[in-house]
Amino acid sequence: MDRILIRGGVPLAGEIRISGAKNAALPLMAASLLTSEPLVLSNLPDLADIATMTNLLAQHGVLIEHIADPAGEAPRQAAELSARRITSTTAPYDLVRKMRASVLVLGPLVARCGRGRVSLPGGCAIGTRPVDLHLKGLQRLGAEVELNEGYIEARAPDGLRGAEIVFPSVSVGATENLLMAACLARGETQLINAAREPEITDLAHCLIAMGARIEGVGSDRLVVQGVAALHGAHHPVIPDRIETGTYMMAAAATGGDLRLVGARLDHVEAVRRILEGAGVCISESDDGMTVRRRNGRLVGTDVMTEPYPGFPTDMQAQIMALMSVAEGASMITETIFENRFMHVPELARMGANITVHGASALVRGVPRLMGAPVMATDLRASVSLVLAGLVAGGETIVNRVYHLDRGYERIEEKLSACGARIERAHG
Ligand code: EPZ
Repeated sequence: MDRILIRGGVPLAGEIRISGAKNAALPLMAASLLTSEPLVLSNLPDLADIATMTNLLAQHGVLIEHIADPAGEAPRQAAELSARRITSTTAPYDLVRKMRASVLVLGPLVARCGRGRVSLPGGCAIGTRPVDLHLKGLQRLGAEVELNEGYIEARAPDGLRGAEIVFPSVSVGATENLLMAACLARGETQLINAAREPEITDLAHCLIAMGARIEGVGSDRLVVQGVAALHGAHHPVIPDRIETGTYMMAAAATGGDLRLVGARLDHVEAVRRILEGAGVCISESDDGMTVRRRNGRLVGTDVMTEPYPGFPTDMQAQIMALMSVAEGASMITETIFENRFMHVPELARMGANITVHGASALVRGVPRLMGAPVMATDLRASVSLVLAGLVAGGETIVNRVYHLDRGYERIEEKLSACGARIERAHG
């Protein structure tokens, strides 16, 4: 298995191009199931999760062809996804267990084919992660839903019909699944207390380009007037705000100065506020932003994760790595997932001083971390160890690199181009 080797202590300087957003690309790819015409997606990131979604869609009968990016900038990827005929409405266990976002095919399959059968995703390293909100929403739209031999079986032989769906709590995936399903339901659907993440807005813009009628985009109340069919479209995927925030923190942690090309500052306002409070200078530029640490150590700052526009749970591990070397203490509270502190013992192996009390971690900053062999159980925890390795003295070896490959495109190339001593060891 590949490992990442880092010799820390170098302030990063230079330019990093931000890739297309993984968590926007996955639902957008699933949206191709809603139409018999081709959907062209550009600015797709080259990541393991995108390959898994490609395989899943291919076994549903979607023809996927990689094409030259209409935006024209190599090596950005584009693909034409053509679901002219859906040959299977089953998403098998082997693919769903690799990637929970596979459940996003359920809404489009039921809406277009009147049925969908998707392996029930199990728990994962960050929590139990049920899909009850997805299923209750589909039932509200008139689908019959059963659990059978580990599979969710949803049927709506006469088609879905619009309804009012009030989410008891905010869910990104359930909002996406039901938004896609509602586009082909008869009549009006209201999604109330919908998630407002930029990835949902991006999905809504793509669906509108495909002929969907959606109002309230960007708000927590989405109103959809169902249409009989959607058509093809071309849609560029938004830049990855979590990759952006991660490199903002890499600049901050190492005392560096980075230009993040293609990044959108308006998608990372909560991260910006926290970093500015900790002593980081961030300024918007024509093609992205620049991030630079002011002189001296970072200052400890409290952070609480919340649905967008709050501070993202997908940045919680990274801010903890940063606060580990800040001056003073910070309290980091995780409100989205019940088990997302798996990086704490690994950061502690590098000398961080962190105590967990329920959903909060008290981080007492130390002047210096020490390199060590570490491993993590999920994507964002893994990248927090890369950040810690970039500031630590000595060598850090991050094991289980396949987690990083799910969400960070060419991370070692991007960082080493800015001076980091980082390499991948194969095998
Ligand atoms: C999305 O997951 C992201 N994944 C996650 O990113 C991200 O951490 C999460 O949203 C929160 O921002 C993708 O977009 C592919 P949720 P999702 O439904 O949709 C509970 C990463 O590192 N819940 O908003 O699965 C759930 O257990 C990943 O890139 C229910 O109880 O998240 C959690 O506590 C990790 N019932 C909370 O809601 C449901 O039916 C939020 O989950 C659905 C969710």
